[in-house]
Amino acid sequence: MDTQRRNQYLEAIGVDVWVRRRGGALGDVQLAADAVEVQAAPVESPAPVQSPAVAVSIARAPVEPVGPRWEALRTEVMSCTKCSLHTSRTQGVLGVGPQRTDWMVIGEAPGAEEDRRGEPFVGRGGELLDAMLRAIGLSRATNVYIANVLKSRPPGNRDPKPDEVAACLPYLMRQIALLQPRLMLAVGRIAAQNLLSTDVPLGRLRGKVHRFGELNTPLIVTYHPAYLLRTPADKRKAWEDLKFARSVFRQLTDGVPIDGDRS
Ligand code: URA
Repeated sequence: MDTQRRNQYLEAIGVDVWVRRRGGALGDVQLAADAVEVQAAPVESPAPVQSPAVAVSIARAPVEPVGPRWEALRTEVMSCTKCSLHTSRTQGVLGVGPQRTDWMVIGEAPGAEEDRRGEPFVGRGGELLDAMLRAIGLSRATNVYIANVLKSRPPGNRDPKPDEVAACLPYLMRQIALLQPRLMLAVGRIAAQNLLSTDVPLGRLRGKVHRFGELNTPLIVTYHPAYLLRTPADKRKAWEDLKFARSVFRQLTDGVPIDGDRS
């Protein structure tokens, strides 16, 4: 990937890219992005760069897996009354992405916009998530499936309650079983802690390859896009997580042993 395109991706995420003045210590132009060890993206032909504002203005039908088991799952989620959230939600939000895909991203729960549109991560956080994924060559239209721990919106975007998670997790487990992703990316504390059955803080779950389920699927943890919108200074750390995930995926596809720790 050329420097210009790489910097466009970083700017879309909100990672500052600046240029050292001529005559500086190195006496030449040097990109700040290089100082944080930005590496080339993995794809030969990444999706065209768009500003998030442009990206959301493009109307498109969500890509969704088909087949009887997916249909059954969708029907169950849409008519689910297993917790009280069904009384306040507009609709269940199952997930989005292609049927065959190696990458799965898992977030927390639908927000107001997701509840209205029936698709995960379509609000402001979703725009940032799309930009983050694009930066490593992924898009919900082609090669990443996106789902949440909860399929119904908690009122006022409060944290999910344990009984709601317990009622809803089996749906996510079925999605994972149907997809059999090669790599899972948990975004945010709620997704990470529930998938890993731990209360270890998110900061200590980052930078390692965890294993999920009977298939020992590699699972990597990063910040939630909504947190990054509130705390833009941590976008660089999220970029490190994304590069880490990308390098683990490369190791998987190259069939070499996975380096389980970033340090
Ligand atoms: N936050 C999430 O975790 N998931 C969504 O779908 C939207 C916001």
